[in-house]
Amino acid sequence: MANMGPYENVKENFSWSISEKELGYHNGEILNIGEYCTDRLCRMGKKDKLALIWEGFGGDVKKYTFNDMRLLTNSIAHFLKGLGLEPGDRICLFMDKVPELYFGFLGILKMGGIAQPLFSAFGSDSLITRLEDAKTAAVITQKKHLQKVRNIVPQMPYMKHIIVVDDDGSKPLKEREIAFHMDQAERIEHFDIYPSKAETPSVLHYTSGTTGKPKGAQHVHYSLIAQYITAKYVLDLQENDIYWCTADPGWVTGTSYGIIGPWVNGMTQCVLDSGFKAETWYKFIEKYKITVWYSAPTAIRSLMKDGDEIVKKHDLSSLRHLCSVGEPLNAEAVIWSKKVFGLPFLDTYWQTETGCIVISNYPGMTVKPGSMGKPFPGIDATVLDLKTYEPIKKPGIVGLIALKPGWPSMMRTYWNNEITYKSKFKNGWYICGDRSSIDEEGYFWFVGRDDDVINTGGHLVGPFEIESALLEHEAVAESAVVGKPDPVNMEVVKAFITLKPGFQASKDLDLAIMNFIRKRLSPLAMPQEIEFVDSLPKTRSGKIMRRVLRAKEWGEEIGDVSTLENDM
Ligand code: WT7
Repeated sequence: MANMGPYENVKENFSWSISEKELGYHNGEILNIGEYCTDRLCRMGKKDKLALIWEGFGGDVKKYTFNDMRLLTNSIAHFLKGLGLEPGDRICLFMDKVPELYFGFLGILKMGGIAQPLFSAFGSDSLITRLEDAKTAAVITQKKHLQKVRNIVPQMPYMKHIIVVDDDGSKPLKEREIAFHMDQAERIEHFDIYPSKAETPSVLHYTSGTTGKPKGAQHVHYSLIAQYITAKYVLDLQENDIYWCTADPGWVTGTSYGIIGPWVNGMTQCVLDSGFKAETWYKFIEKYKITVWYSAPTAIRSLMKDGDEIVKKHDLSSLRHLCSVGEPLNAEAVIWSKKVFGLPFLDTYWQTETGCIVISNYPGMTVKPGSMGKPFPGIDATVLDLKTYEPIKKPGIVGLIALKPGWPSMMRTYWNNEITYKSKFKNGWYICGDRSSIDEEGYFWFVGRDDDVINTGGHLVGPFEIESALLEHEAVAESAVVGKPDPVNMEVVKAFITLKPGFQASKDLDLAIMNFIRKRLSPLAMPQEIEFVDSLPKTRSGKIMRRVLRAKEWGEEIGDVSTLENDM
């Protein structure tokens, strides 16, 4: 039986206090996510239950019980404190999906630090933008990523420590660098966990917008209340489940539902630290008898592309519940998964800023393939008129997805950027920045983003960050970056570029610019296509109109161009 009862009943009677009660939390008390995910579970008799089954790309396997996790997160917390790091310090996790990333996250929270996870494929430019904004005090990283940190160390006087988790002495460590080996560290039985309260900052996740630099969505320990109950109801996590979240903790899915949600529910989770390959993924499910699987549309479409035959070669009968997040889950993918796995992927919708699933399909609810489902009980969601910001009463009309503020895991601000944070609210609603309609039965149907942010394979990339980096290339005079359609990744980055005098468009220059961005920012931000143009469409005030370029890529109506200065 599913954890969540019939939707309408639950919605009617829901209150976040149900979650508080189940967690034994009372208003005003100490609340520390690190404690709740480790020590509390041990006290509840789960000491010897497996918390993490980890497999590396080379096939090596590591397993940790809840007690191992309790002790190792203590060791990390103790080590960080010993370095002089203090509560409130931002501590960045810059690693592949190794156990140290997961336990480091909880260790930081246990000593009162603010965990700042960053995607390990980021290059030095992406890194410095986010570390500079947060004035990060320490980075925990791996040897293979150390050079990217070293490149920018001179620009970071506030950075006190660079902790290397797999140092083997082959490269001498430099000033400010220090080795820490989790598996060999002393296991600390008693660590004085920082007595955080509900509103104590916990996690800082950077996300991209249309304009300006990436923004740090700042979360607090109270997010646990929402992450616990959404993981329980939507992911339907139950005692004997073996859970697999394919997301990287560099992004919010990988922390809210790849660390906090499953572990506070006492789940055994599996982590696969290797790239995407259908064969590897199916083998992983088969080997560990995964029951609940949380993934993303791009991955599902990639699996679809690899065909049904390969599915049949594996015994995937352990699977019982599948969910998806990050981008629109097309109806074909839902229908295909029903056909080959016997289970539809259930779409869930949320954001870095919301901290938890806010619109979703639920076990037992009728799935309408292509729809995102209905608001989570406890979430008041609607669509607002594009101009007046008033809730749209009529079904089927496209508006802005908006949420009534006040759920536990909502970001509390953007780090250093209260102005942008405030601009996200209109008429008492939090505006998500996406467009949707709602049908007669209350199902949300996603339409698209309301800004220029590009969603590539479930990862948001800001055009501004790419355009700024492009300007650093010697050949680039001006650029405009938009998303272009892609069958697997939904969108990929396309750059329109005007060249400086003396530079000629060529295949070589094309590749050189692509690589320039890949190295500085990340493979996600790398343009998959570059079009050299003589001029870019601009408004009379000189602002580049990405909208016009984007509409062309998507074969859409260009819309109002009355302020357009030059003809395309
Ligand atoms: C944006 C948030 C939170 C998970 C990872 C992404 C898009 C998210 C869906 C969905 C259509 C979706 C939206 C949203 N998005 N889920 N089910 N259907 N679009 O977090 O990086 O903050 O991105 O991803 O545009 O605003 P994020």
